[in-house]
Amino acid sequence: MDAKPIITTGAEYHWKTSYDRDRMDGHFLDWENQPNPFKKYAGIQAIPLMTVSRFPENSLWDLTSQPVNRPDLKTLNRDQISQLLYLTGGITAKSRQAGKDFYYRSVASAGALYPAEMYVGIFDAKNLEPGIYHFGADNFALTPLRSGSFLNEIRRTLSENRHLSASFFLTGIFFRSAWKYRARAFRYVLLDTGHLLENLFLALASVDLAFTCHYDFSDEKVGRLIGLDGRREVGLVCVNVLGKPLPATQVPVSQDIMAVDPLPAEIIAAGRVSRREVVYDDILEIYRAGTQEPASDRVQVTMFNDIGVTPTSWVSIEKSDADSEERSYAQAVLHRRSKRNYINQSLAKKKFMRLLDLLCRSARQDGDDDPFACLTVGFLTGNIDGFEPGFYLLDPEKRRAGQIISGNLLEPMASVCLDQKWLTNAATHFLFMANLKEIDRHYGARGYRYAMLNAGRLGQLIYLGATALGLGCCGIGALYDGEAQKLLSLNEDSALLYLVATGPVKRF
Ligand SMILES: Cc1cc2nc3c(=O)[nH]c(=O)nc-3n(C[C@H](O)[C@H](O)[C@H](O)COP(=O)(O)O)c2cc1C
Repeated sequence: MDAKPIITTGAEYHWKTSYDRDRMDGHFLDWENQPNPFKKYAGIQAIPLMTVSRFPENSLWDLTSQPVNRPDLKTLNRDQISQLLYLTGGITAKSRQAGKDFYYRSVASAGALYPAEMYVGIFDAKNLEPGIYHFGADNFALTPLRSGSFLNEIRRTLSENRHLSASFFLTGIFFRSAWKYRARAFRYVLLDTGHLLENLFLALASVDLAFTCHYDFSDEKVGRLIGLDGRREVGLVCVNVLGKPLPATQVPVSQDIMAVDPLPAEIIAAGRVSRREVVYDDILEIYRAGTQEPASDRVQVTMFNDIGVTPTSWVSIEKSDADSEERSYAQAVLHRRSKRNYINQSLAKKKFMRLLDLLCRSARQDGDDDPFACLTVGFLTGNIDGFEPGFYLLDPEKRRAGQIISGNLLEPMASVCLDQKWLTNAATHFLFMANLKEIDRHYGARGYRYAMLNAGRLGQLIYLGATALGLGCCGIGALYDGEAQKLLSLNEDSALLYLVATGPVKRF
């Protein structure tokens, strides 16, 4: 792809890959070429993780409202790492499909294609040697890719001055999703990675670890360290676990990651997941447009209300207490599944408020980890006791929801979502919207990543909140983009990026 790129901004990519009812060409899935959802490193012995038999008992609401930076630094151990990885991306269910076993995970994924992968850099942990490892969900094991501590190289790359005990790297393999969604797949890879990231945040919080998150880093350096080719598989997020300071004698020598030997070609080639992979130029163009070194002084921009609609009246969202039947965070992770069997039965206002409360608690006013950054979050309501049907925006900072349109829009929205009619029976559709032009203006093309990753994060949180409350939930990435903009009366620069439906279901 040497020609001048056509796509240089998030908005260009988004609209170029939008669905239009009158221009949907049939796409048949090539089952012979179905991507492998598990990465394979030939010839490297994987290290088994520990079976997780006890899970934390925290409430999701408590975990979400805790501050991200916990002062109490701990040393990691192998049991904890096993638990973290299992809750973040482990296998939680199995079904038979076309005569084969199919594995579902703790995280939702568009089309169950699981494009996101996880790597761990260990610097200081009991019973686990320092090194860079890949997490395999299928064998629940770590494959060692490099041995030795790369602590200072990573700190230097991420401009991180604090001491770290581990770093997690989340990556995306484009063809896993592009096999089904073609050029539109960059959206799904980002949303899916955001879902995984939220699971990782919650898992870290559940064992009381302090951590920081980086959306900005040199893609080239991170790719070199963990063995990505930057074309098939790319790095999207780094999460650092803060650790106890090492004694001065143990602090490894720092060098630039570019001076570290590249990993062998066989390791990098493990990013190939099908025999015949199609490379979509639109995906490479938007990805590459976002790889410029981001400004270190980027500011948080609150996007609330940049989408061209203004609330006329407000409803306040009170902090709520747990119901005795509510599942714990870990039970919600283990039981979470996408549900589409909604019944047109009213949802108690208390449960709905509890979900809104969860979202408000997750907002962070003081850091890069705010999942609301770059997004305007709203919802459509239908059958909720004592809550007027309509289209609302959520203002998490002021803990209130503002009405934009009165009336039930669930049915027209189901039609916007590629006529997935079952969505009409959900009690509510959460909406993740953004002014893409503003995001491009503030952050360049990398801003599209922030918005989509954050939409995925909040999507996973709603899935878990709904599961804890005994409600069904399903993410929806398939929508006619122009129709969504029109239905919600958004301005021409704004789009609905993602939708998550929840409500009472027939069988839970
Ligand atoms: C980003 C994203 C988009 C999705 N889009 C749809 C959709 O349009 N329609 C649908 O029925 N399910 C959709 N899903 C749900 C997935 O199909 C589901 O997560 C996957 O099959 C795995 O099943 P599980 O969630 O039960 O683990 C989506 C999920 C995600 C994360």
